[in-house]
Amino acid sequence: MARHYRHLARLAPLALAGVGLASCGEEPVDLPYGTAQQFMANEVQSTAEVYWNAVGAVSELVDGEPVFREFEPQTDEEWQQVADAAVKMREYGEVLATPAYADGRGDDWMDFAQGLQAVSRQAEQAALDKSPEAVFEVGGTLYNVCTACHQSYPPADLPAGMTVDDIDRPSPDETLEEYRAQDAT
Ligand code: HEC
Repeated sequence: MARHYRHLARLAPLALAGVGLASCGEEPVDLPYGTAQQFMANEVQSTAEVYWNAVGAVSELVDGEPVFREFEPQTDEEWQQVADAAVKMREYGEVLATPAYADGRGDDWMDFAQGLQAVSRQAEQAALDKSPEAVFEVGGTLYNVCTACHQSYPPADLPAGMTVDDIDRPSPDETLEEYRAQDAT
């Protein structure tokens, strides 16, 4: 069965709650990207999607007929956009490690934030190497890093039936070749 890229519904209205809230007497903390939830929904997710959607396969309807199409960046510019997304992910990992987002969390929070930085470096290298296989593979590792943190710090307020597992991403267990072979059937 063909798989399609799905996109997590934007949850902007939910994200509005909690802006600048601080309990009485506390200085509001300066959160550069809003709450963790806003940061995730508005920046982290869309940047990860740029990376995850860079290589893969889709089946599309053309004149009512399903047409299977493999895709990967074609031009230097397109590869650069993938590398840029990886650089952004690393910066987000650094932001997550700052007190604004790390305060009040366990020690593992820092490990996850650093894990995001580490995998983002690999992700950048894979894009600079212009290797679709490596981009796909590191994309799976990237997904594992997201999931590891979400297991310890489960997102609240996801609409019923929607878990973070619904985020579309390359399977961490498949090579690009296997993924495309499955899609072709
Ligand atoms: C260091 C920990 C950490 C890492 C790493 C992390 N997240 Fe999150 N993420 C969170 C937390 C905490 C929340 C829950 C925010 C809330 O509900 O208050 C969250 C929530 C989310 C949400 C739900 C946002 C919403 O609208 O409720 C999405 C989507 C998301 N993360 C995507 C990602 C993606 C994609 C990655 C990897 C590229 C990632 N996250 C990596 C901590 C992390």
